Amino acid sequence: MTKTGSLAYLLESFLPLTIIMKYLTFRNGDRLPALGLGTWKSGTGEVYEAVRTAIRNGYRHIDCAAIYGNEAEIGEALQDAMTEDGAERSDLFITSKLWNDSHRRDEVEPALHKTLSDLQLDYLDLYLIHWPVAIKKTAGFPRKADDYIPPSEAPIEDTWRGMEECRELGLTRHVGVSNFGINRLNQLIRSCEIVPEMEQVELHPYLRQKQLLSFCREHDMLLTAYSPLGSSDRSAAMKRENEPNLLSDEVINTIARETGYSPAQVILAWSIIRGTAVIPKSVNKDRQQENLAAADLALSESQMDRLNALNRDYRFIDGSLWEADGAPYDREYIFGA
Ligand code: A2P
Repeated sequence: MTKTGSLAYLLESFLPLTIIMKYLTFRNGDRLPALGLGTWKSGTGEVYEAVRTAIRNGYRHIDCAAIYGNEAEIGEALQDAMTEDGAERSDLFITSKLWNDSHRRDEVEPALHKTLSDLQLDYLDLYLIHWPVAIKKTAGFPRKADDYIPPSEAPIEDTWRGMEECRELGLTRHVGVSNFGINRLNQLIRSCEIVPEMEQVELHPYLRQKQLLSFCREHDMLLTAYSPLGSSDRSAAMKRENEPNLLSDEVINTIARETGYSPAQVILAWSIIRGTAVIPKSVNKDRQQENLAAADLALSESQMDRLNALNRDYRFIDGSLWEADGAPYDREYIFGA
């Protein structure tokens, strides 16, 4: 690791309004607001207002993806925030993700153009490969082996080359991946020109991702935590029986009482203090503000230790979606270390 590598994890703070905004720093010095707005599960009809309100209230980092099906509405909100609320494009940090049905090298740039057109932007700040899983365009969500493209026919290194080309063309400032375990990251690192600049994975006190976070630090990659609150608004089909509930966890609630903050704020503060970005989803103005204000919360070492001890390597999004009978992918391939 280079000295500048460790600098990427230095958090900087300043006071824009009443909230403390914290940042992570990329290798080239660009900055990413540590707390962003997630938009997975924010439906059409509600996401416009959610993004508009978030930007009005101080959010500058919005996390999107083509598969969320709401980028056109988010694009309207971004456009109106810039023309009516005076938000500057250069102050916004917009992420999107390449869907699994566009993994061939020559499909990456067209997929990014579609996202840019939907979001009404000239460039993204960050473009991620959403999953290390390739599926056929007609597949929708794959149900049988034939819906997939095996890694031998759509090598992830080729997909990555397409991502690098997009950065070279200036269509995105940064490139990275999502849902890649250490094995898949190493596969890219062995052959890439640009080491992924960001890894986005599920991360919360039940899945603290200690090994992956260390790996990212060694390779000067930033890490973003998705589903930080446990994504309890997932569809029933994506849930298991008797899932744990992070927000009602006893230890988290005790620390919330000790600090006078909410359980959600305790979780988000823990994540930011560990040096990761975090993207809680909310379509509710009050909860958005509550989440943004979590950056103000300083947790003691013993509170951090108690939160770290909650780890049980529990995934709410466990990758089983990609394990149709005979599929050439499985959880070990995706998340394996
Ligand atoms: P809502 O959108 O109505 O605010 P995740 O970010 O892990 O995907 O979790 C999103 C879920 O958590 C949504 O159901 C969201 O509801 C809810 N949520 C977001 N912020 C908070 C908060 N501060 N307290 C409680 N629930 C929250």
